[in-house]
Amino acid sequence: MGGTALALEVADLSAGYGPVRALRQVSLAVPEGAVVTVLGGNGAGKSTLLRAISRTLAFHGGAVTSGTVRFGGRALDGLAADRVVAAGVSQVPEGRQVFARMTVEDNLRAGALGGSGDRSAKAAALRRVHELFPVLADRARQPAGLLSGGEQQMLAVGRALMAGPRLLLLDEPSLGLAPLMAARIADTIREINAQGTAVLLVEQNAALALRLASEAYVLEVGEVTLSGPAAALAASDEVRRRYLGVVDEDAAADAADAATAHPALSRWEEATR
Ligand SMILES: Nc1ncnc2c1ncn2[C@@H]1O[C@H](COP(=O)(O)OP(=O)(O)O)[C@@H](O)[C@H]1O
Ligand SMILES: [Mg+2]
Repeated sequence: MGGTALALEVADLSAGYGPVRALRQVSLAVPEGAVVTVLGGNGAGKSTLLRAISRTLAFHGGAVTSGTVRFGGRALDGLAADRVVAAGVSQVPEGRQVFARMTVEDNLRAGALGGSGDRSAKAAALRRVHELFPVLADRARQPAGLLSGGEQQMLAVGRALMAGPRLLLLDEPSLGLAPLMAARIADTIREINAQGTAVLLVEQNAALALRLASEAYVLEVGEVTLSGPAAALAASDEVRRRYLGVVDEDAAADAADAATAHPALSRWEEATR
C-alpha cells in the first residue's frame, strides 16, 4: 500500500450468530493514524464487524467462522477481549453502555483496567480525557446515568481512551444525538485522531462519517459492496442517493460525473451471491 503502515488488516472475515450469517468475507484496512469509515444501514453487520475485531462477539452469542484480523502485524485471532485491549485496540460499543449507577470517574477508571499502561500512563490518559471532555471532570462524582445522551457518548469515548489505544473502534457514536451534539462528537473524533490514534468508525450517518474519514467502505447485508477514498464515495451517485439522501436530478448527474472522475472506487458486483 505505497509504503503506508497498516494498523489494522481484516482479511476475508466471516462471522455469524448460530445459523445467522452476519459477515461474509469482509476485507478492509486501516492505515496507521487514519480515520476509516464503514457505512451501512441497520442490520448491515457494522456492529458484528467491530465485535469480531475486538473479540467480543462471543458475549453476543456470535462467532468468527473464517478469516483473519491483524493489528500492527500481529494476529488478534483467538485472543481474549482483554488481550485485544492490551494490544492497543479499544471499542466504544453501540448505545454507549456506560455504567449508569457508577460515577463518571469510576466509569473512566474501569476503562483503564484493560490498558497496558502503568500509573503515570493512566494519569496522563485521564488528563487527556478531561482536556477533550471538560464536562467529565466537572461531573466526575455524579452517576453516569444523570448525564445527557451526548455526555454519555463522551464518557463512552473517554472510557475507551483510558486504555491508551492506538486504534479506536467507534460504533455509531452519533446515533440518537441532536445534530449539534453529533457535530461536537465529530470534532473530538478529529482531535483524538490528530493526537495519533487511528479510528475505525461505523456509522449510518454517512454525511458525518465521510467528512471525517480518508477511506470508506459500504457494507450491505454483511458484504463490502463499495470502497474507496471517502471523497470519491461522497461524490458517488449511489452513495448520495442511498446514504446521503440526495434526490435532486442535477446533483445526481453532477455526482455521476464526479464518480467517473474517481476511478479509485472499487466495486464488488453480485459476483459471490
Ligand atoms: N446478538 C445477536 N444474535 C443474533 N443475531 C444478531 C445479533 N446481533 C446481530 N444479529 C444479526 O446480525 C446481522 C448484523 O447485525 P449488526 O451487526 O448488529 O448490524 P448493524 O450494526 O449494521 O446494524 C443482522 O441480521 C442482525 O439481526
Ligand atoms: Mg450496530
